[in-house]
Amino acid sequence: MFYSALRKVLFQFDAESIHELTIKSLKNTGSTPLNLLYKQTISDKPVEVMGIKFPNPVGLAAGLDKNGECINAFAAMGFGFVEVGTVTPRPQPGNDKPRIFRIVEANAIINRMGFNNKGVDYLVEQVKKAKFKGVLGINIGKNKDTPDENAKDDYIHCMRKVYDHASYITVNISSPNTPGLRSLQYGDALNELLSALKDEQKRLAQQFDKYVPIAVKIAPDLNEEEVNSIAQSLIDNNIDGVIATNTTISREGVEGLEHGGEVGGLSGEPVKDKSTQVISLLAKALDNKLPIIGVGGISSGEDAKEKLEAGAKLVQVYTGFIYQGPDLVKQIVNAL
Ligand SMILES: Cc1cc2nc3c(=O)[nH]c(=O)nc-3n(C[C@H](O)[C@H](O)[C@H](O)COP(=O)(O)O)c2cc1C
Repeated sequence: MFYSALRKVLFQFDAESIHELTIKSLKNTGSTPLNLLYKQTISDKPVEVMGIKFPNPVGLAAGLDKNGECINAFAAMGFGFVEVGTVTPRPQPGNDKPRIFRIVEANAIINRMGFNNKGVDYLVEQVKKAKFKGVLGINIGKNKDTPDENAKDDYIHCMRKVYDHASYITVNISSPNTPGLRSLQYGDALNELLSALKDEQKRLAQQFDKYVPIAVKIAPDLNEEEVNSIAQSLIDNNIDGVIATNTTISREGVEGLEHGGEVGGLSGEPVKDKSTQVISLLAKALDNKLPIIGVGGISSGEDAKEKLEAGAKLVQVYTGFIYQGPDLVKQIVNAL
């Protein structure tokens, strides 16, 4: 109730200004008594995935807390896990503004942020400061000005920096807003990247005497053959999990609406079925060899159940959370 009133006010303003204001407020209140404004008690629904014990299966998707500044605030809201990032080796400004657009009629967002972030060293400092004891995913990517042929080096650089601070590491090869990134999802490019990351994981596991799982995040804009081929690469390279999906480049569901033609990735309700379809195809191809984390258009307990029925073991939310606030976490956990 409180959030729906607040949303009416927030949605009067430009999306990115509100995002920045919200991040600042959550950063400043997350570990203080003021977190009572959004703190919730969520019933335990423990689940073990990738060898990690999650208190409940509902996570915050990557991109909302790109710099890891609000981990304790999101934990107070009752998320079973929090994924921060995407972070790149060096800080970068991202694309020109405006670069995030609400499409309220479709419960959707289009964004072309372009991995705006303060760099991996800053994120690691934030994570250390948070002293968070829950499940933390750190999502890594490449800098825009790193040539595609050197993308691997960026992922390895970030992996080394975050390894000791993450419960799992997400390799983001599916953002539509970094040119060339999604080509890493295919064929030899994918196998080369995954095998390099796997080698590095082995080395880091020895160095730190702990195993941190790697999950790969994929796009919704893939046909059956492409999903099958990705699934085979994930299995062949012993990857620990897959996150499906990122935003879509399709405009189905927003054509003709204000901002519906903006360039970028579309999220929320219009990506829901596409994401569920990719999860179903993945589930068939993976045959339980590695777990799926389902994300895309979840805005109710029913939507989350659909993802689990399609084969996901955990879910994440972003756009639904923007539209409904912290109560969505409770709604979903209670429905499962
Ligand atoms: C504004 C915005 C920024 C995002 N940034 C990232 C990001 O940095 N890394 C990433 O892996 N996904 C990012 N995403 C994708 C979300 O994590 C999620 O996969 C996608 O939006 C589908 O879920 P949803 O429909 O619940 O939003 C972003 C999404 C939005 C709306």
